[in-house]
Parts: sequence; C-alpha cells; structure tokens
Amino acid sequence: MRKLIVAGNWKMNTGIAEGTKLAEDINKYLSSNTLPENKKVIIAPPFTHLVPVSKVIDPSKIILSAQDCASTENGAFTGEVSAKMLKEIGVKAVILGHSERRQYFKEDSEILLKKVKIALKYDLDIIFCVGESLEQRENNKYFDVIKEQISETVFKLSKEEFKKVIIAYEPVWAIGTGKTATPDQAQEIHEFIRNKIKENFDENIANGTSILYGGSCKPSNAKEIFSKKDVDGGLIGGAALKCDDFTKIIEAR
Ligand code: PGA
Repeated sequence: MRKLIVAGNWKMNTGIAEGTKLAEDINKYLSSNTLPENKKVIIAPPFTHLVPVSKVIDPSKIILSAQDCASTENGAFTGEVSAKMLKEIGVKAVILGHSERRQYFKEDSEILLKKVKIALKYDLDIIFCVGESLEQRENNKYFDVIKEQISETVFKLSKEEFKKVIIAYEPVWAIGTGKTATPDQAQEIHEFIRNKIKENFDENIANGTSILYGGSCKPSNAKEIFSKKDVDGGLIGGAALKCDDFTKIIEAR
C-alpha cells in the first residue's frame, strides 16, 4: 500500500523560535493522535531551523526535510548546503525542483538531475515537484510540460533509486495564489503521472509511488482533493505555517 503523505513546505518563513514552536506543536498533536501506519507527516523548515527543529520532534512521527540541496558534494560553492551536510544533522528528505527554484533560481532539468542523484547518494527521500505555468495550462501544454519535467530527471533513475522519490504536482498558477486546481484537474494529472511511471518503470512502481498535490491546499479544500484516487496527500505551503490548519489537513487524508 502506498504512503499517504502530508508535507509542510515552510519556504522562507518563521523565525527560529517561532518555527521551533510550530514543530513542537505539530509533534504534540502527533503524540496524542495516532496516525495509520501508512500515513506520514513531513515538515521542511528553512535551513537555519533544521537543527533546533530536529531536537524537538520525534523522528518516528515527523520526517524532517530540507527545501533544497546543492548539486555538488562539497567545495567552493558559496552559499550552498550539501546533501551530506543535511544527512549529518538528521535530515531525511529534500524537496527538489520546486517551481520557485525553477523560476527564481533558474534550475533546469540538468541541475535537478544532479541534485536528485546527490540526494540519493546520501540516502535522502526526494519530494520532486512538477507543474505547469498558467500560460502552459491555457495553451493546453500541461501534459507535455509535466512529461518533460519527469522524463528529463527522475525517469533517468533506476527502479531502486526511483523508490525514494515522491512526486508533487504543483500547478504554478495555484501556488500561493488562493486558486486551487479542482479535484478533477488534480486527478487528471496525477493519473497521467502514474501512467507515465508505469510506462517508464512498471506497474508495481507506479502503484507504490506517492503523488502529492500542492497549490493553495487548505483545510477547507483538502478533503475533496485528497479523496481522488491518485492523490496521495499534499505539499502544503501557506497553510503549513499554522499548526491548527496543518493538522486539519493531516486529518483530511
Ligand atoms: P501554497 O504553496 O500551499 O502556499 O500554495 C505550496 C507549495 O509551493 O509547496
């Protein structure tokens, strides 16, 4: 049975005290509410928060993730943080290919594949994001865009490697905009992605891969989106910054 996942992407938000308190509160919630075995919670705080947050969470209840890692192992790369460094502080996963990284930091498939490979070398799980822009959706290019984004990156992995990958479908026009894909729009793409995984790898891998929806997911719409058969949870931005909202979303799946 594939994992149902609710992941919080904090982006560049919260101070250390505030972020640590948020992590503590989520941990408290999970200590008094037992989740089914296949349901997992991930949080991805900013780099500076990872160590203090790691000290207040129970790693059997919350998987600690980073929001990015370097495409190289070490060396003269000012400002970068490597997968090895993340591993060393107890980080278990990393978000790669987020549309904000693609858009503002010009990350393309070539660099993303390098990041994916290096994250795998350090045994990190990968939340790999894909999604089309508004223009691409309006021009009916979205299937092609998504296909390209996965073909050029995670589809180049071996079957064993791909088992460490979670896909997050995040239509760029829905991120932080308050506009959400309809449950049917999400299902259409999730099913498409799962079929492509089946073609590229095999049916078992396709059925075992968690595909998350992201983009203005909140307590009021999570249940409906998550009810679709190929939607295995969500990657949550804004609504992951309030414990109450985030835990309601956890309950929705
Ligand atoms: P949002 O962000 O929930 O604030 O739209 C989602 C994301 O970018 O991961």
